[in-house]
Amino acid sequence: MLNSKDKFKGKHSIVIISNSYAEKKIKKEFYSNFLREEIALRKLQNYHFVPKLLGSDHNFLTIKMEKIEGVNLLTIIKLYKKNRLSKEFILSIFKIIFKICFIMDLEKIYKDEWNRPFKHIIFTRESIKIIDFDRSVFNTNKKNTLQFISFIFGFWKFFNKGEFFTCLYEFSIFYEKQIEKYQSFFIDLPY
Ligand SMILES: Nc1ncnc2c1ncn2[C@@H]1O[C@H](COP(=O)(O)OP(=O)(O)O)[C@@H](O)[C@H]1O
Ligand SMILES: [Mg+2]
Repeated sequence: MLNSKDKFKGKHSIVIISNSYAEKKIKKEFYSNFLREEIALRKLQNYHFVPKLLGSDHNFLTIKMEKIEGVNLLTIIKLYKKNRLSKEFILSIFKIIFKICFIMDLEKIYKDEWNRPFKHIIFTRESIKIIDFDRSVFNTNKKNTLQFISFIFGFWKFFNKGEFFTCLYEFSIFYEKQIEKYQSFFIDLPY
């Protein structure tokens, strides 16, 4: 029998966690959210940072996916506040998430939830995973990176005012380097 830990009620859905997978059942009035989540997951399947898509049902609006187990960003931030994690560690985490945002920008999938990412970024044993894509917008010029940056700056300002500008600087440099790398990747192609 399911206990409360195996069932999550979201705004648009109920997520049921079983032994080997998670199933997100989207409320019937949110069909477009179902499509958004399914398309985003499908398009991002080659990347390790999304749950594996195991199946979907357009009649019942269910999406069966890999179960993601780990600790979420909220827990990580709480540990940081208790001085159990270093600033450097948090920064390195943000950089990885930032890279994920960058990939999604290149794929032109705008998740639109990076301003409240606490429960959607999960640290598993192997890697960082991102869940909840039901607000995704496709082929848009809106940028995940920019939305996440504004979250980070707000966060940093809130917790540690002195670090704000250093952090801003570091992230903008990192962002530019990523763009350079990606562009040179194309220039170097032999055809
Ligand atoms: N693939 C998954 N593996 C494990 N837990 C998940 C998974 N997908 C969702 N959850 C859990 O269900 C909660 C609600 O899921 P979410 O996709 O955010 O629903 P909604 O979009 O309706 O808010 C998440 O915060 C998470 O705890
Ligand atoms: Mg959602």
